[in-house]
Amino acid sequence: MEATRRAVLVGGAAAIAAAALPARAQSITSLGAKAAAKGLTFGASFSVAELDQSYGPAYGAMYAREARVLTSELEFKMGVLRPTADAIDFAPADRLMAFADTHRLGLRGHTLIWNDYLPDWIHALGPREAEDLLEAHIVTVLERYKDRVGSWDVVNEPIGPWDRLPGNLRKGPFLTALGEDYIARSFEIARRTAPGLELVLNEAQTESDDENGATFRSSLFGLVQRLQDKGAPIDAIGLQCHIDSARPYDFAKFAAWVQSLADLGFRILLTELDVNDRALPGDAAERDAAVAKIYRGFLSEVLQVKAVSTLTLWQMADHTSWLYYDAVQKTPRALRRPRPLIYDSGFRRKRAWDAVAEALDAMPARDGAKIR
Ligand code: XIL
Repeated sequence: MEATRRAVLVGGAAAIAAAALPARAQSITSLGAKAAAKGLTFGASFSVAELDQSYGPAYGAMYAREARVLTSELEFKMGVLRPTADAIDFAPADRLMAFADTHRLGLRGHTLIWNDYLPDWIHALGPREAEDLLEAHIVTVLERYKDRVGSWDVVNEPIGPWDRLPGNLRKGPFLTALGEDYIARSFEIARRTAPGLELVLNEAQTESDDENGATFRSSLFGLVQRLQDKGAPIDAIGLQCHIDSARPYDFAKFAAWVQSLADLGFRILLTELDVNDRALPGDAAERDAAVAKIYRGFLSEVLQVKAVSTLTLWQMADHTSWLYYDAVQKTPRALRRPRPLIYDSGFRRKRAWDAVAEALDAMPARDGAKIR
């Protein structure tokens, strides 16, 4: 994963722009400040490998300027932390801590337990070993980082309808080992190890107004109710919000569903917002306008829900997006590249930045739970 990021060569434009940050950047209130004024925590996922690119200083400066909280994009994933059965590599996560300390930023840990994106050796574990790993991993990581990382995606993406299992649960070594109970168990271990942290259940694909979205919404809702009945110590539900221009949306309807989830007694975090522009026609400027419109439409509805306490984007600049890396890998020669975020590859604010700013200015104030 990290290797992929490092391997991708990004053109010189970003490096040139890095040297000359727009002067207006200093004079405009940041998104972090706008959100904080309303009691909402704003931030984005961050990847320490980007600091090693030619544009690293501009990348870091953008986060220092705009964000109040960073989510680890890769640093806490098992593939990075536990590349082999007998090694644990804290170096990338420690580097993330150092960056956040320097710029006095909060941190969200992503993610402790996920049935996907695992190194092969974990897929090969037997049920007993997977159960032991689940406990040892949560304890080890939280013991080390609990004083610094205040909010955690304890379990990521429990739902996977394509696996055709009861409850539409997603297949993987932890589900195989413990059944649905792997989820409650993970939260119990996390709470016991480090009381006081914000423990989040994070899920994808709940947003679209189609059959897929409806399946994810009802499956997640049912799961959350069962977990609640069991007394699992879940503080908040994270909704990833990777919006895809190829899918249909009804953001007002989605916001009503988010409210119904909040009414169960949870805080809501919008954890991985970006807008995939793959189905949008036109040149860069036209697509940027259409992407901005989607950000505006989405946020103007969902930020009405006062239980939404945190908004984090999945990266902030187009060329550091997972969608961009993926496109470079799949179509190395294509001229058109994804433009899913609020800054362009020259670290210039896009129209989507204005859309987010307007939505933050317009939303009702809330009592946001501040992330340490
Ligand atoms: C993605 C990263 O952005 C990529 O760099 C990596 O190759 C794969 O994982 N949902 C999640 C995130 O919860 O962890 C994913 O992150 C994006 C989708």
